[in-house]
Amino acid sequence: MTKHLSDPEIAGLEWVSDYPLAQATTMGVGPVADALAVAHDDDGLAAFLKTAHAQNWRVAMLGGGSNTVFCGERFEGVVLRLGHEYAEASFVQPDFIDCGSAAPMGAFVRKASDANLSGAEFCMGIPGCVGGALAGNAGQRGEWICSLVDYVRGFTWDGKSRTIKRGEFDFGYRYSELSKIIVTFARFVLKASDASAIRTKLNEFLSVRKEQPLGVRSSGCIFKNPEGDSAGRLIDAAGLKGYSIGGAEVSTLHANFIVNRNAATSRDIESLIDHIRATVKDRFGVELQLEVRLVH
Ligand code: EPU
Repeated sequence: MTKHLSDPEIAGLEWVSDYPLAQATTMGVGPVADALAVAHDDDGLAAFLKTAHAQNWRVAMLGGGSNTVFCGERFEGVVLRLGHEYAEASFVQPDFIDCGSAAPMGAFVRKASDANLSGAEFCMGIPGCVGGALAGNAGQRGEWICSLVDYVRGFTWDGKSRTIKRGEFDFGYRYSELSKIIVTFARFVLKASDASAIRTKLNEFLSVRKEQPLGVRSSGCIFKNPEGDSAGRLIDAAGLKGYSIGGAEVSTLHANFIVNRNAATSRDIESLIDHIRATVKDRFGVELQLEVRLVH
């Protein structure tokens, strides 16, 4: 029988039982979680992590929900989010931007460009929040968010605070060691530039998005690019654009996106992922690796 978790009643921690996860992810699918916990300050967060660790609760950290799909009948555990107190982005002289992890990527980009700081333009159009971007080392066209880090603060899963500086963590294409902790804050180091150069770069990155499905429910790119190739190109060449299972469809605009076209379920998404993988393997001998995080 399912064991439902009860509110640990921690100051600085909001608790919502039986939380429908479909509303927490951009794909708009998913089961109900035993609970959603929203941390509003560091003490509440640390106390929650210690309790969850001691009780052996399953905890899934969730940022903006733009790269995660929850699967299965029920999430037997707690989904953890950071509250609006962690959503601030601010300019610090001479060339730093400070961000709470829950700050939307758009707020980070805007704060940097308003201060005439260059280096974060590639983040334009990347969905989600700063914490999720750091966990997955979000980036495009050879630029990655982890390379901008001066230092981050956060907590280990058992509630101990940590400060990690540039050079003290590993990262690569869609991979970051910062995913092993809960980052709450990041300081980014950028470079002074002029407004028009920054604007030109922002527009370039924004135009990339026009080749991707916008304003529809998706989780961005589903698969990582295999070395030297593009997952989107391979899926397209396999003739899968527009292919659908249930309410889930391979985007007709960019084949590495699955869109929730018509009340898809997480099972539809998973079946479509399996079908894409099998077809691309069969046609090109390439094993596509997931970029999106499937939580079972
Ligand atoms: N292509 C096709 N058909 C498609 C999609 C792409 O033939 O349906 C071809 C394009 O014509 C191009 C090549 O594949 O020749 C590469 O496509 P694109 O420039 O769109 O880049 P991508 O490799 O598919 C990557 C990132 C995106 C990021 C773009 C732009 C990954 C998995 N994807 O896509 O990131 O926005 O570059 O820089 O690394 C994401 O991670 O969620 C994401 C959207």
